[in-house]
Amino acid sequence: MTTATYQVNIINSEKQFNVNADETVLDAALRQGIMLAYGCKNGGCGTCKSKIHSGNYSTSDNLLNSCEKSQGLALLCCTTAQSNLKIEAKVLEGIGDINIKKMPCRISSMQKISDDIMLVKMQLPTNEKFAFMPGQYIDLLLKNNQRRSYSIAGNPLENSVELHIRHMKGGLFSDALFGVSENQPALKVRDILRFEGPLGTFFLREGDKPIILLASGTGFAPIKSIINQMLATKNTRPATLYWGGRRPKDIYAMQDCNDWIANLPNFKFVSVVSDALSEDNWQGRTGFLHHAVMNDIPDMKNYEVYACGAPIMVESAKKDFTTKCNLPEDNFFADAFLSQSDLNKI
Ligand code: FES
Repeated sequence: MTTATYQVNIINSEKQFNVNADETVLDAALRQGIMLAYGCKNGGCGTCKSKIHSGNYSTSDNLLNSCEKSQGLALLCCTTAQSNLKIEAKVLEGIGDINIKKMPCRISSMQKISDDIMLVKMQLPTNEKFAFMPGQYIDLLLKNNQRRSYSIAGNPLENSVELHIRHMKGGLFSDALFGVSENQPALKVRDILRFEGPLGTFFLREGDKPIILLASGTGFAPIKSIINQMLATKNTRPATLYWGGRRPKDIYAMQDCNDWIANLPNFKFVSVVSDALSEDNWQGRTGFLHHAVMNDIPDMKNYEVYACGAPIMVESAKKDFTTKCNLPEDNFFADAFLSQSDLNKI
């Protein structure tokens, strides 16, 4: 039996694409090179929320409330078409030649940079180009169709992918990486893995607004990639990085931050620790990360914010920045990398 195919018109742009009845609207758009805003692809982050103006569809998301659904709002990563559709969606331009693909890679180095964070570099095949926008992520493809998503910390010009991976006890991939898995051998240099990417639409938008970069823990990884891109392109937009952790050891790349202060005009760095122990002898800022930003920049009307890290931090920042500090909702970009309900980035 052949699968039915329908047409989707994006009414706020000139674009249209076909969707098969057995694929999500988001997958169909990406497959045909139309970059709609998205993050997790599994109904966890809300980035792909769009309005369906007409047509029949089926959606499996649990994130939107009944009021939103009755207004025709839907998460395109959880929506399949049952007729032609007219939708209103955020279409991103300017990343046309970036294709999502599946590729092999070889672990070329593993460096423990704190007691629970590993910096992993993976070599890519020399005959295949892997283009990505700084800020995007990849899915490592594991046994039994399982995936684990990690943001890319590296530079698109290198023929390798750098990941910052925190050890999560019981984590399918991170247990093997840290050599404590009961079911799998420890991963080691030269092991071959496969991944799919690049994924997500978390990357620096063009413009000259000052930017606030907000990272908690290993949410620093895509932010590192974005700031290095600014350095490479001599981008002098005012940028302030707020990096938070529970303990000082969670702010694990001070050297990078000091290099940016020295070499990137208009760059500032603020570190914030929430649960320092007395033995840490922490003299710097304390408390909630996003409160530190609100304290320093009470009016964010003309800013853009790029946030990555624990969902609670990202969600609180978005809520408070937009309701208390005048940040336009469209100027908040996030990659809440544990937003998937199954924590599938562990
Ligand atoms: S991409 Fe659809 S909810 Fe995250």
